[in-house]
Amino acid sequence: MAISLRNTIRLSSPIFTKYVYINTKSCNKRFIMTSRSKLEKVLQGLEKNPYFDKYADKIAKSQKVSPEEFSQRVENEEKKQQRKKVSVHLERFYTQSSWSSPFLNIKVQPLWAHIKKNNFSDHAPKNMYITTPIFYVNAGPHIGHLYTAALADAIARFNSMLGHSVFLCTGTDEHGTKVENAARAATLPTSEYCTKISGEFLKMCDIFQVQYSEFIRTTEERHQNAVHHFWNHLDERGHIYMGKYAGWYSVSDETFISDAEVIQKKDITGIKYMTESGNPVEWTEEDSYKFRLTSFQDDLKHWLKDENTVQPAMYHKILSTWIEEGLQDISISRPISRVPWAIPVPSDKSHTIYVWFDALVNYLTAIGYPNSFSSQFWPPTVQVVGKDILKFHGILWPAFLMAAGLEPPKKLLCHGHWTINDLKMSKFKRNVISPFEAKDHYTPDGLRYYLLRQAVLHSNANYNVGKIENILNNELAGVFGNLLHRCLSKAINPKRIIPDPTTSISILKSEIALANIKVLEEISDLTRTLYEECHLCHVVDAVMNLLRITNRMFDYYHPWHLCKSVKLDSIKELEAVLSLSIESVRVAAIILHPIIPRLTSNLLDTLQISKENRTWEDTKPLHVRNSLNGAERIISRNEVLFKKVRNETYI
Ligand code: ME8
Ligand code: MG
Repeated sequence: MAISLRNTIRLSSPIFTKYVYINTKSCNKRFIMTSRSKLEKVLQGLEKNPYFDKYADKIAKSQKVSPEEFSQRVENEEKKQQRKKVSVHLERFYTQSSWSSPFLNIKVQPLWAHIKKNNFSDHAPKNMYITTPIFYVNAGPHIGHLYTAALADAIARFNSMLGHSVFLCTGTDEHGTKVENAARAATLPTSEYCTKISGEFLKMCDIFQVQYSEFIRTTEERHQNAVHHFWNHLDERGHIYMGKYAGWYSVSDETFISDAEVIQKKDITGIKYMTESGNPVEWTEEDSYKFRLTSFQDDLKHWLKDENTVQPAMYHKILSTWIEEGLQDISISRPISRVPWAIPVPSDKSHTIYVWFDALVNYLTAIGYPNSFSSQFWPPTVQVVGKDILKFHGILWPAFLMAAGLEPPKKLLCHGHWTINDLKMSKFKRNVISPFEAKDHYTPDGLRYYLLRQAVLHSNANYNVGKIENILNNELAGVFGNLLHRCLSKAINPKRIIPDPTTSISILKSEIALANIKVLEEISDLTRTLYEECHLCHVVDAVMNLLRITNRMFDYYHPWHLCKSVKLDSIKELEAVLSLSIESVRVAAIILHPIIPRLTSNLLDTLQISKENRTWEDTKPLHVRNSLNGAERIISRNEVLFKKVRNETYI
């Protein structure tokens, strides 16, 4: 079968020298990259296509090229290519292909599959686009919002340390009934209310050092222009039509819901609500513009073929099942009489654009779409989303993009929710935790540390005051802070000297010192992989493991005795213990930098590690790299890494 399909591929016309295309009676031209290895990959991809068996023979019959003749043509074409080196923009690739033909949906492994293979796998600096969801301004930030933003920020910081160019985007989602109702309840004009709450999210980013490249508000003019442009583009390509919606709508979730997702309360109120979120729903019958989502089912399946597209794997499975169950065209507008606080549909002032269509386009607006689009950052490398919005990002968003001829995201990183003492956070339960209040007790980095070290992506995480205090006191103040404190204590190291680790570490031969050195030498590669897999809690585990071993090594040598000795051997041994300990602290601080940026920056400043020596390369111990940066240093002040938190009983 593979051979017969190989027969089907012909070289492109001279205008599109960079590509070959599949040419059959039944499909239009669709361009794919040449070069034999790439071609092989495309063919392999095609063979995985669920429709391959059905169509491959047909395609083969319609072509009359032998495999040999075909290979020869590819070779000639490659030679031509090397001379020409034409660069053709991706957008053009997609514009000239057509996503709307049902036959085309199955023909060619889309280009993003090639690009994805490069993701994280090599050392060359890359452009990376990382996003957080944009937050509804119906209320101020809570710790769930902080978590999602800090997670994206940590991933962005880690990648910057690897030398990549990272663009991190966040912002606020300001249209729709839910926001309008909140403004009314606050007795403020809607736009004033939005500015106020959006400001709180900005403040959250600043206080917690979420280092965004762009903060976008959906009420900005640039965004309205982008949404209009995107809408018109889909319309021109035939993906939008006028239809009707009759069904349920949840204002709290800003979503249309099928009958199957609705349940009726058994009490006398008989209220109907959405099963998944527990929010009330209302019956809605209205004219609306619709998007032809149904025609993207195969493309979505294809996009999901690479399991890395949605992580962790369980969310990939959930999403695949939803898509497998079948899709329906979706409403993308509401009558302006019902939802006035929204972007109008271009050229139909009686409708406004559905808030999710508007919101998803923020990821394009933020990088200059359409007029100054930074295409080098497209497609998004990692889009962080909560599990509540997986459907929107895993179905609507990639389908919208494919419809527009743009590549869908490389990876959706999905996470569970924070609960408070095992209860869902909600205004009605009065258990919403404000990051601003929590930071007064735990400091901004303390809270970041707890959120990022405690949560695992595939399940919900529980916010519990006792647990926070334990973790912060044991790990940051205890294991980490204590080690630093001991190394610089008056009794053991009165002159606060950090000896050069490149010369002194090797004299330590005890089992515990060798274990310490081994862990120190291996931790860079280990934690790099963990960061790449977004297992931040395991990164922290690995660092704590290193620091615990270092504390044990420190105890083993009894430095409080060594410091009293005048024997040369003891002095040398003390120097070695101090330098191994501080080296472990230095490496730990650089590795934890993406998680607790402020604390680690202060610590590295204290250790006189210059800013340019805080890259991922610097997580390798100095004695391994024979670095010149290890020369003896004297620390001028005594740093308290993290003050213990006192018992809190405020929730
Ligand atoms: O859904 N635990 O905004 P949103 C962890 N505007 N994360 C949580 C959380 C919790 N309890 N609650 C919220 C929206 N989040 C839309 C998004 S994107 C184009 C539009 C996180 O303010 C989670 O990542 O309701 C969630 O997806 C995000 O905050 C936004 O929630
Ligand atoms: Mg929400």
